[in-house]
Amino acid sequence: MCGIVGYIGKRDAAPLLLEGLQRLEYRGYDSAGVAISGKSGGLKTVKAKGRVRELESRVPKRFSGTTGIAHTRWATHGAPSDDNAHPHLDAAGKVAVVHNGIIDNAAELRAKLVADGVEFASETDSEVLSHLIGRSTAETLEARVQQALSRVEGTYGIAVLHADFADRIVVARNGSPVVLGIGENEMFVASDVAALVRHTRQVITLDDGEMATIKAGEYRTYTTEGSRTAASPTTIEWEAESYDMGGHDTYMHKEICEQADAVDRVLRGRIDDRFATVHLGGLGIDAREARGVRRVKILGCGSAYHAGQIGAQMIEELARIPADAEPASEFRYRNPVVDPDTLYIAVSQSGETYDTLAAVQELKRKGARVLGVVNVVGSAIARETDGGVYVHAGPEVCVVSTKCFTNTAVAFALLALHLGRVRDLSVADGKRIIAGLRKLPDQISQILRGEEEIKKLAAEYADAKSMMFVGRVRGYPVAREASLKLKEVSYVHAEAYPASELKHGPLALIEPEVPSVAIVPDDELLEKNRATLEEIKARSGRILAVGHQEQEVADHTIVVPRNEPELDPILLGIPLQLLAYHAALALGRDIDKPRNLAKSVTVE
Ligand code: AGP
Repeated sequence: MCGIVGYIGKRDAAPLLLEGLQRLEYRGYDSAGVAISGKSGGLKTVKAKGRVRELESRVPKRFSGTTGIAHTRWATHGAPSDDNAHPHLDAAGKVAVVHNGIIDNAAELRAKLVADGVEFASETDSEVLSHLIGRSTAETLEARVQQALSRVEGTYGIAVLHADFADRIVVARNGSPVVLGIGENEMFVASDVAALVRHTRQVITLDDGEMATIKAGEYRTYTTEGSRTAASPTTIEWEAESYDMGGHDTYMHKEICEQADAVDRVLRGRIDDRFATVHLGGLGIDAREARGVRRVKILGCGSAYHAGQIGAQMIEELARIPADAEPASEFRYRNPVVDPDTLYIAVSQSGETYDTLAAVQELKRKGARVLGVVNVVGSAIARETDGGVYVHAGPEVCVVSTKCFTNTAVAFALLALHLGRVRDLSVADGKRIIAGLRKLPDQISQILRGEEEIKKLAAEYADAKSMMFVGRVRGYPVAREASLKLKEVSYVHAEAYPASELKHGPLALIEPEVPSVAIVPDDELLEKNRATLEEIKARSGRILAVGHQEQEVADHTIVVPRNEPELDPILLGIPLQLLAYHAALALGRDIDKPRNLAKSVTVE
């Protein structure tokens, strides 16, 4: 998704803006640009297709000014090019706009503007905003932006500069994140705290329909209708250094390797040995309400959805409440029957994924009770839900989710234990699960120590035409997430299937060039899973098994330490993160910024 950075204060803006864009590069983009309010009035703009370093090479030495905005673009309308890069200007060159989101009625607005004689410089939807603002005759910049936004349908996170209002930047949010950073006589704005955490940890996250005016030492928040809002700053919990790569070659490797510490954090302070349960402050439902829950519906996208599938299994096993997970995008579009006795749970690392946020808003509109299992504190989904569990994975910079996926699965284990212990889960089982949770960090470290072996296996499988990932019940979401990991970082096609379903069709795909990865834990389905290995082997399929003991039918087995059956899925997937990582490395992929992808998908 696009990245937005803005600065107004006493320092030269350009270096701060370019550094901010570098902090947003991981989100995925294809072009970048910057606009500065010059001291002598007027705006100075530089834009470039390609990387931020290309933009930097084009910024003139004398590019001074203490107010500016900048943008990294992830193309939705119009191919990557200099002209299509933001900021976009109005015809008079007095207004500069950076935009993240999609304007659904851009074609209609563009046609009207063209009919009025406006000449467009780009193919983007965003440029209509700069012309609408530039052609407004309202007295203030705020009113001009409000007038323009009143004609727009769709999503936006925007920052606006105007040469005639050089003492301010006006920003607005509807569906795409906008965060204000509060400094000493200076203010920042960004689409992600990563761009400003080096300068301040006091932030204000705008809500949908909210705007703000930022000046050198002050800010004001209000709605798009103009009524004041009482925004209260929050403190970013993560240190600036946690955004560094920490000596690793890629963020993905760093984030895989820090999972033991990350799991430590999600457990910290939450275990209650006295009652063999957990404390989840901020959950938003008390014991009585928890007992009244008749079913659980978990919603998320991509890896968040897969973690939700693991969570649903845990909730069914530990709390004996019917539970299932569904892609948020599917849920919101199928006019779902919303049940008052169902507890809905939205899962999201960024807390800004549009499809998940929109599903939450649809549920809230229908009076449902919605919790969030989220990583980014204060994010839109965290604020939209009635409570929830923060997963405390720390900033996850790589587009490919690893540590946050694992922490989310652990957060669901905590939630399942909590729900179970307010119902019929015994003290003994509560203690058993707690003991298992406490073993996770060391067991993760043990798995990561096997990286070299996994690296060799990755080299062996990286040339596969496609890969089949199979698992049963607890193993199936593990297979789904592992399949997604391989696809998104190595571009090797893969698909995941319930192991029992292979014989109903997909077995036709099995051949030596299409190896299989089988999740084979030592649980009650071990013999069934072994039968699947035989099915594959009988058709000359190569097999990589992941489980708790060597599988002689398999060509290779990655053995992981055994925990409690309900918690095993948390561990079984970790070696497959490394498999995907090293396969991608062997294929020379752009690990942290896979093609076509973005870290937080804040558009539909
Ligand atoms: C994960 O590897 C992917 N990058 C992607 O599927 C991601 O999980 C999905 O877009 C949801 O993001 P969220 O957790 O921030 O909502």
